[in-house]
Amino acid sequence: MGMEAVIKTNNLSKVYKRLFKPKTHALDSLTITVPKGSVYGFLGPNGAGKTTTIKILMDLIKASSGSATVLGRPSYDVEVKGLIGFLPDSPAFSPQLTAFEFLNICAKLLKIPSDLRVNRIETVLETVKMSRHSRDKIGSFSRGMLQRIGVAQAILNEPKLLILDEPLLGLDPYGRQEFKQIILGEQAKGTSVFFSSHILSDVEEICDHIAILDKGKMLCAGRIDELLTASGTKAIIAPENDEALKELVTIAIATSRRDDGSWVLTFDNSNEIKIKLEDATKKFPQAIEISASHEKLEEFFFRIIKGDGAV
Ligand SMILES: Nc1ncnc2c1ncn2[C@@H]1O[C@H](COP(=O)(O)OP(=O)(O)OP(=O)(O)O)[C@@H](O)[C@H]1O
Ligand SMILES: [Mg+2]
Repeated sequence: MGMEAVIKTNNLSKVYKRLFKPKTHALDSLTITVPKGSVYGFLGPNGAGKTTTIKILMDLIKASSGSATVLGRPSYDVEVKGLIGFLPDSPAFSPQLTAFEFLNICAKLLKIPSDLRVNRIETVLETVKMSRHSRDKIGSFSRGMLQRIGVAQAILNEPKLLILDEPLLGLDPYGRQEFKQIILGEQAKGTSVFFSSHILSDVEEICDHIAILDKGKMLCAGRIDELLTASGTKAIIAPENDEALKELVTIAIATSRRDDGSWVLTFDNSNEIKIKLEDATKKFPQAIEISASHEKLEEFFFRIIKGDGAV
């Protein structure tokens, strides 16, 4: 019963033990559920345990205790590997291969039938805007270009689930925009996406769920729209409604003018303001549109971590 999950962890813990060095409790009883069809942002400061979790999910390292399932199977089940697209945190590519040659090797490893291979490779290169560089050597690529090849490799097999460790790292604003489009495109095709990132504005734009981790412990998880609390009231004043604007601008805590000439005013949630807003909307019903204003993910993140998030 309940929703279908593509990733489930149950009290997952990881202690790194190294000879003559103190143990590191990298992950402490992590329990999360990633619903099918979601775009899930996995957040937390450096050293929080994100990569450790992802490595356990991909069975690259073993958990010290607890368990994880991926697409309904134990994370160590090899059968499930072909259904997952994975971008590791520091992918290593052979520099002497061209982008095409590299993806062709990946396609063979993924057992994509030979008659489909070239087509698939061209499609993913197109998706990550790297078609022009298909015959260029990977050794000549910039960091952002490598990241694009990493994403191309992850979506090559039309996976049911994408697990990406900091896919936005090294991308320029165009690259980030394109990445967001790729992810939303994958979601539209029914793919679930789980990725770690430090770029909170991008996470806020495309994720429907998040979890925040700090020092190996989960601080919160859930639907982003439920986690970000309504922090005030927002009014949009249609362009050229100076009377309405004049009436409200003096009681607003923040104002901004948008390109179309409309204004966005933010108010606190006091009763006094509520009454004034009601009066104004009655007076200028065509000009004013009221809605709840939510705190930004970045504000939420700092509030949850409380500034002591560093390693
Ligand atoms: N192989 C390892 N041996 C010992 N300690 C490790 C190892 N890998 C990670 N750690 C430690 O585990 C903790 C979690 O690291 P992890 O790489 O999972 O963090 P992260 O959330 O991915 O951070 P970042 O945002 O910097 O990528 C850190 O304290 C780190 O030093
Ligand atoms: Mg990491």
